[in-house]
Amino acid sequence: MTSFALAHTNLALVKYWGKEDEKLRLPSAPSLSLTLDAFYTKTKLSLSKEDRFVLDGKEEKGKEAQRVFSYLSTLLSFFALPPSHFFVDSQNFVPKSAGFASSASAFCALAAAFAKEMKLTVSKRELSIASRLGSGSAARSVFGGFVLWKEGRESGESFAVPIEEKSSMPICILYLSFGAEKKKVSSTEGMRLSKSSPFFTSWRQECRKACKEAQKAIEDNSFERLGQISEKNACQMHALTLSSGFSYLSPHSLRALDLAKEIREEGVGCYWSCDAGSNAALLCRKEDLNFIQKRAEKAFSGAVSCFCASAGPGVEAWSED
Ligand code: DP6
Repeated sequence: MTSFALAHTNLALVKYWGKEDEKLRLPSAPSLSLTLDAFYTKTKLSLSKEDRFVLDGKEEKGKEAQRVFSYLSTLLSFFALPPSHFFVDSQNFVPKSAGFASSASAFCALAAAFAKEMKLTVSKRELSIASRLGSGSAARSVFGGFVLWKEGRESGESFAVPIEEKSSMPICILYLSFGAEKKKVSSTEGMRLSKSSPFFTSWRQECRKACKEAQKAIEDNSFERLGQISEKNACQMHALTLSSGFSYLSPHSLRALDLAKEIREEGVGCYWSCDAGSNAALLCRKEDLNFIQKRAEKAFSGAVSCFCASAGPGVEAWSED
């Protein structure tokens, strides 16, 4: 038997940045995301005599393979299963060369394919907890549309829940890639460093508040309010990293923040976001996407690659004999 899973990436509108327990990946605050249709990971997994990991058609033996097999052994203990070996073949439909991270879709797909192959009956809640153990943001990719990840005080309490899997909000994301760069500080390290910031307590409180406000904005179908909350939260995350002595932002990321503001001043809804890298994302309405893309290409004199995404579905898994 061979099992397959397809999971989409997500963009956090309220960011997960800080862990209470690193091993269990228990977040310091709740987060809220939009699962995206354009970027995903497809994973094929089967039991095997030896561990093998193929990524985008290439056999991996280094750090990436280590992380995959250490995660699979975490899953075996999590589900109280005996040791086993696996053949994992993953394809990332995420433009990695453009500097996009794929850990959310990758670990969610891995957890779902594992559960199928081991014939486990798992609820979506359990699958979210299991995905979280691979990479925090993967907990949210279990569901489609708008998703909330609860912080929780222990492992069984920290999972994602769907807010609106099929929202009627015409929200779109325009990713602006300024080229791939070697991440100077990994998310894990960045979160660790950020915990020493004198502003960390405020950051947690702001995220809790932002999640509540964002849920209300989604309920009210208010793109403008959701955009404002997301931009403010992204700015706060980057202010937090700076207050801990490092930053992911480049002059291009900051130019994109100004651009969002300029576009708003012209009366078009456009909001900025940025994760643990310098590439930025602009949130807009579907009908404004072309206009905003043209503005971005002009602002960066062509030195930008644009990728569009809108709301996407939750994870899917199946088996074949
Ligand atoms: C900035 O999920 O990659 O994208 O749990 O250490 O694997 P680990 O972190 P990861 O962090 C994502 C950070 C972020 C914000 C977010 O997606 O919420």
